[in-house]
Amino acid sequence: MTKPLTFGLFQTMGPLGAWRLPDNTGVNFLTLDYWMDLAKRSEAAGADFLFIADDFGYPLIDGTVSPTAIEHALLFPRADPATIMSALSTVTEHLGLVVTMSTSAERPVPLARRFASLDHYSSGRIGWNVVTGAGQNASARLFGEPMRPHDQRYAAAEDHLKLAMTLWEGSWEADALKVDREAGVYADSAKVHEIHYEGPFYRADGIFSVPPSPQRTPVLFQAGASASGRDLAARYAEGVFLAAEPDAVRDQIADIRARAVAAGREPDAIKFLVAGTFIVAPTHDEAVALREKVTAFFTLEDAAVQYAFFTGLDLTKMDPSKPLATTDSETGRTNIERFTGSDGAAAPTVGEILEEFRVNGVMGNPFVGSPAEVVDQTVALMEHTGADGLLVQPGPTGDSASFFDLVVPELRRRGLIAPVVAPGEPARTFRERLFPEGTAHLPATHPGYSLRAGR
Ligand SMILES: Cc1cc2nc3c(=O)[nH]c(=O)nc-3n(C[C@H](O)[C@H](O)[C@H](O)COP(=O)(O)O)c2cc1C
Repeated sequence: MTKPLTFGLFQTMGPLGAWRLPDNTGVNFLTLDYWMDLAKRSEAAGADFLFIADDFGYPLIDGTVSPTAIEHALLFPRADPATIMSALSTVTEHLGLVVTMSTSAERPVPLARRFASLDHYSSGRIGWNVVTGAGQNASARLFGEPMRPHDQRYAAAEDHLKLAMTLWEGSWEADALKVDREAGVYADSAKVHEIHYEGPFYRADGIFSVPPSPQRTPVLFQAGASASGRDLAARYAEGVFLAAEPDAVRDQIADIRARAVAAGREPDAIKFLVAGTFIVAPTHDEAVALREKVTAFFTLEDAAVQYAFFTGLDLTKMDPSKPLATTDSETGRTNIERFTGSDGAAAPTVGEILEEFRVNGVMGNPFVGSPAEVVDQTVALMEHTGADGLLVQPGPTGDSASFFDLVVPELRRRGLIAPVVAPGEPARTFRERLFPEGTAHLPATHPGYSLRAGR
């Protein structure tokens, strides 16, 4: 590998990992101390960012909440991650802070205002994971609305994003904010423009209330790997999160990159980050034993509940010896398309999919072994897929402790990750950290660039 790996830490605001292990700390997710400590440790490890995922859904079976999800804490419970981003920015200096907000759950104007505010408070370190939402069947029911069909959700997501970018980029010129006490002019009214936006799902006429933040548009991430998800990513994302088998990840990256270039963007305009779970211990045998201990907590029923959350399909109603009985679903599609067979390979059976979800969850094969072994596995995956880096999953203890303690020193010893930014070094925005050759703002080849006022 020629470039250092980009890496971030993944979390959701819930009891992550094998919460039944006595040393699992994910159960502390309702305390601010837990998150501030994690942010500080991520920064000290040299991570580029901390990402907190989100969704309003939870697993539904037969149209109602799965009791197993409640009892076993499967994709439930969950608190609101956007509320803590300011707090995390006060205990870190250089760490990017990425948070999911769903275009299905949120309206564009309040979302744009919240991100612009967070970008100010964090001095330009905020990122938005743009999703249509994984557990759509449950969240539509909770919101008391019909579930929008899958591809329409993505069309609405694009419209939502375009309006949000129009607000961030198009209302204020760069030098509109004056705060001139003598002249009594707070902002130059000739340089704060009304935006007029009319799309298929949203319209807006007016000015944006927040003065331009350091990055204007937050760094844009995307995570859905269905065909429509990849299309959205190719046009707008600056970072993409992926989780699948190595060959599938390689193909998804090649596909998104080709579509991005076809849309007029640079081939390296997107950082591709692969989800990786580290089950690591000082020795190989200890790591293998830990993996066995962790997977023993999960049953095939747990696997079916998790699969139902991501796809809306109930595998317990299908023949385990056959491939998926239907691939038709208006809930998330990534985890359906992932198991339909590709390149002429046979599709896995329902039983195999269940076992895959039982032992690996949604994020795919973990890296298992001693620190040297898992770093070898990481390098092999990066080289095979052409990814730019890693999105580190929480691991058995929920808080990535073994990743920080065992893997980071080995990555650093081999020069695979950049040196830690020393406290007090000049601050950069998150976008400049990811793309040092660029600026704090969207590059000229991004569709959001042309929206900027007074360019
Ligand atoms: C690493 C990673 C992180 C993700 N984070 C979220 C998230 O925070 N919220 C969410 O709704 N979906 C998230 N997803 C995507 C969902 O798995 C799901 O694919 C998507 O929301 C539904 O879109 P689809 O139909 O394109 O699959 C993530 C996926 C990956 C691989």
